[in-house]
Amino acid sequence: MDNFSFYSPTKFVFGKDTENKCGELVKEFGGSKVLIHYGGGSVVRSGLLDRVKKSLSEAGVPFCELGGVTPNPRSGKVYEGIDLCRKENVDFILAVGGGSSIDSAKAIAMGLCYDGDFWDFYTGKARPKKAVPVGTVLTIAAAGSEGSGDSVITHENGNIKRGAGGDCLRPKFSVLNPGLTQTLPAYQTACGATDIMAHVFERYFTNTTDVQTTDRLCEAVLLSMIEETPKVIKDPNDYQARANIMWAGMVAHNNIVGVGREQDWNSHGIEHELSGLYDCAHGAGLAVIMPAWMTYVVDHNVMRFAQVACRVWNCKMDFSDPKKTALEGIAAFRSFLKSIGMPTNFAELGAKESDIPYLVKTFGLGETGKTGGFVKLTSKDVENIYRLAL
Ligand code: NZQ
Ligand code: ZN
Repeated sequence: MDNFSFYSPTKFVFGKDTENKCGELVKEFGGSKVLIHYGGGSVVRSGLLDRVKKSLSEAGVPFCELGGVTPNPRSGKVYEGIDLCRKENVDFILAVGGGSSIDSAKAIAMGLCYDGDFWDFYTGKARPKKAVPVGTVLTIAAAGSEGSGDSVITHENGNIKRGAGGDCLRPKFSVLNPGLTQTLPAYQTACGATDIMAHVFERYFTNTTDVQTTDRLCEAVLLSMIEETPKVIKDPNDYQARANIMWAGMVAHNNIVGVGREQDWNSHGIEHELSGLYDCAHGAGLAVIMPAWMTYVVDHNVMRFAQVACRVWNCKMDFSDPKKTALEGIAAFRSFLKSIGMPTNFAELGAKESDIPYLVKTFGLGETGKTGGFVKLTSKDVENIYRLAL
């Protein structure tokens, strides 16, 4: 196991009706003027926004609001949010929605403490060190942004999707009411489940040895997702299954299952080019890319793939041919994704073979660059993975 420091300061308030506590929570963390930031209207239709406003009013906390965050949130909304917050003297941002609203809130929060262009944090020109405090009321179990120090934004100029990360971006509090996710369409639920599993796999596939504790934590989250996801696809109102998935989504990405080990993250990078260009759901893109990536890199450590095949996918170890077992595990993952309604190839995602050169170019490795923690990929490898996903 490698040395690590782990900082996860978020207060999680979990369960039924917990959104009614967000006024008190904002006060607890020092907010005196709030921006409520939300998406395309699901929180309006469900009545959640009204309950959040009531809670803030009852706590005596004034607020302004900015809705309209799109999935794969765009830079334009971030600039709008920064301007509004400066005008309104906002000192706390409350995201109400999914990863997109939360990530947009985090981008605004960083931008408010920075004199330059907030996009500098996403190009690597600046590192996030300071941000206005952010709280969240989560409505979809997926991105894990409610506990992570990350934010992913797409710049309208070229549809380039990039991430920024820093502990200052970790939310002060996150309200997790599983009941709020019951209005999700099955497709969005499945996209979220795929993303959660992908966050675990990005950490599971590592070159670091002697990481049994985090291996077993990863396996537990994957097994829970395999058990609970079909329940909510069948019955969207299954509160207990929703609750398990919601907590899995947080655990999968606040890094508790990933400390002390090298992580990969190539599937995420390769996927982000797809959701940036085609505006598809991030989880759907991962459903297409991650099994292709696994197939491409399996020879790097056949036994690690065989291990997850046996421990998570219930495959029988073939000691005379471990690669057979490894490939069975990848096939089991693929058929699980298909069973919950995820796309399995470029065509089902709405992606085009003719765009592959553009995707590889915007991925940005150039002629000689390499990226990734488990297997270092070149531009040619990235291209091969896109082709495997056709
Ligand atoms: O916009 P509204 O109307 O709210 O509708 C949303 C949106 O259309 C809808 N939705 C959310 N909760 C709902 C609901 N519909 C009905 N009932 C509910 N309770 O679902 C759609 C997707 O919402 P979105 O916020 O985009 O989903 P998600 O949480 O999957 O976030 C995806 C974004 O997060 C990024 C992704 O790349 C993508 O841009 N990620 C962020 C990460 C992070 N910050 O740590 C890590 C991830 O790997 C990921 O990259
Ligand atoms: Zn993800």
